[in-house]
Amino acid sequence: MAAFSRRAFLGSSAAAAAVLAKPPRYLGPPVRAAVRLSANENPYGACPGAMAAMRDACARAWRYPDEAVDEVRADIARMHGVAPEWIHVTDGSSEILKLAAGAYTGPGRRLVTADPTFESCAKHAEAAGAEVTKVPLDASFAHDLGKMTASDAGLVYVCNPNNPTASITPAARMRDFLRAPQAMVLVDEAYHHYVDSPQYESVAPLVKMQPRLIVGRTFSKIYGLAGARLGYAIAQPEVIEKLASQAAFDTVNIFAAAAGRASLADAAWAAEGKRRNAATRANVVSELQRRGFTVIPSQANFIMFDTRKPVKPLIAALKERGVEVGRLFPALPTHLRVTIGRPDDMERFLSAFAAVVA
Ligand SMILES: Cc1ncc(COP(=O)(O)O)c(C=O)c1O
Repeated sequence: MAAFSRRAFLGSSAAAAAVLAKPPRYLGPPVRAAVRLSANENPYGACPGAMAAMRDACARAWRYPDEAVDEVRADIARMHGVAPEWIHVTDGSSEILKLAAGAYTGPGRRLVTADPTFESCAKHAEAAGAEVTKVPLDASFAHDLGKMTASDAGLVYVCNPNNPTASITPAARMRDFLRAPQAMVLVDEAYHHYVDSPQYESVAPLVKMQPRLIVGRTFSKIYGLAGARLGYAIAQPEVIEKLASQAAFDTVNIFAAAAGRASLADAAWAAEGKRRNAATRANVVSELQRRGFTVIPSQANFIMFDTRKPVKPLIAALKERGVEVGRLFPALPTHLRVTIGRPDDMERFLSAFAAVVA
């Protein structure tokens, strides 16, 4: 064993004290050489009020977040016209998918999900010992809801708009399906703020009539808070209790709760984010169409289009050129998912893509 001298100890503790006394200077976000269009983040970030709220919350970081979470829960409940007991606030909306899989699937209680769709609920259901039934999207990339029932289903996961296709399942079909579902239904509305199609509606108001419905929302997308982690579930109070019983204590941090409140108060920031996304998306879509590619009509902050080539090598080739795009979705092996970034990000994507498909 190395000799342990008092001088060495004092020396190292003095060095440690110096480090503690002088916290590292914050240099801002790391500069990334790569253009990241792989995670459907909001390139415009959080609203100024949310940034200020997170800074202010530093002074309260020594406290558990109970009051802060109660406050944001109350704001969310007010916005949806329900009592706070109808809302469970989570560590991003990913947590809702885990809680719902834990509460409603397991051996003999299958998860029914679309293909392709966001995979995380299926992963949690498998971990809970449940079988997963994958129902292909229909020809218009909507959920084929008529086929999404099973007598032993515990949970049906419907992602609307759907990730990765950015397509919607029309309101009338959703309403029909939710009239008398045979199992619990989790409708993931992570991208709902980006939709402008008159064919779409949020099913959040239906929770008042439907005890078998959970709606999931996130602050990671339009509110630009993916790194802060905040989401929520809306459902009838007995369902909320069941979800909450699966959760760890205090999964929502004080910074996210404060930023969430400020984000809800700034509707103009969200509207501007939606407008900028739609404008950039329209330009990218028309450029890809001009080059002869078929783009699935997008109602979100990302697009998916048919490259007519196996997409995996394209993803790798784009990465080599500093452009990160979405992963392979095996049900659509020639389709590429690309997040809508800022206009200059998209120019980099379009020129890198032209080079790799050449
Ligand atoms: C459809 C969908 N649901 C949920 C999530 C999880 O997001 P978060 O946990 O950041 O709210 C994502 C993330 O991209 C998503 O695409």
